Amino acid sequence: MKTNRLLLGLLCICVTLVSCQNSSKDYTAKVEDEIKVPTKEEKIRRGEYLVMTIGCDHCHTPKKMTDQGPVPDLDRWMMGHPADATLPKIDPSQIGPGKWLLFHGDLTAAVGPWGISYGANLTPHETGIGNWSFEQFRKAMTEGKYKGMDGGRPIMPPMPWQSFKELKGEDLRAIYEYLMSIKPIDNVVPAYTPPDRIQ
Ligand code: HEC
Repeated sequence: MKTNRLLLGLLCICVTLVSCQNSSKDYTAKVEDEIKVPTKEEKIRRGEYLVMTIGCDHCHTPKKMTDQGPVPDLDRWMMGHPADATLPKIDPSQIGPGKWLLFHGDLTAAVGPWGISYGANLTPHETGIGNWSFEQFRKAMTEGKYKGMDGGRPIMPPMPWQSFKELKGEDLRAIYEYLMSIKPIDNVVPAYTPPDRIQ
C-alpha cells in the first residue's frame, strides 16, 4: 500500500514536471514569435506593399498610354521625371496663390508657387538613391531635407513628406530596402526651378 502511494506521488511529480516543461516551451515559442525579427526578404515585401498602397509611383514613375488611359511604365519604375522630357510652355501669370497648380501629363513634374519640382529618381542607381544611407533616406522622408543632407534645401511640394514623417521606423526601413532592391535606372532628373526662373 505504502509503495503504491509512493509510486502515485512520483507519477504526479513527473506529470507536473513534464507539463511545466511543455508550457514553458510553448511560452518561449510564443515570445520568439512575437519578437521575430523580419528577414530582409520580408522587409522588401512589406516595403513593396507600402510603396504600392501609398502610391509613390504616381509622382516617381513616368506613364505610358494604353487603351485604358495612362498607366505606370514598369520599364521605368521609380526613375523619376525623365531627363529627356520637355515640359509644355508654362504661363507664369496663371500660377500663384489662389491660381492654378499644374501637373505634367504623367505627374512627374509639378508647377506651383514654389516653382517647378520634378519627381526624384528613387532607383538604386548612383543618379538615384543608390549611394544613400538609410539615415539620409530617413532625413529626406521625415525632415524634408533634399538628398537627406542636414544643410540641404527643403524638399518642395507636392512631395508629401509631412505625411510620411508619421511612418514608423520599421516601415521606413522596409520602403528603403524595397527601393534598394528594384532595377537601377540611369536618369539625372532636372534640377528644381525656383518661381522667379519659370519662363
Ligand atoms: C504627389 C507626388 C509625390 C508622391 C505621391 C511621392 N513623392 Fe517623393 N517627391 C515628389 C517630388 C516632386 C519630389 C522632388 C521635390 C524637390 O525636388 O524638392 C520628391 C522627392 C522625394 C525624395 C527626395 C529625393 C532627393 O533627391 O532628395 C524622396 C526620398 C522621395 N520623394 C520618396 C518618396 C516615397 C518613398 C514616396 C512614397 C512613399 C513618395 N516619395 C511619394 C513627389 C511625390
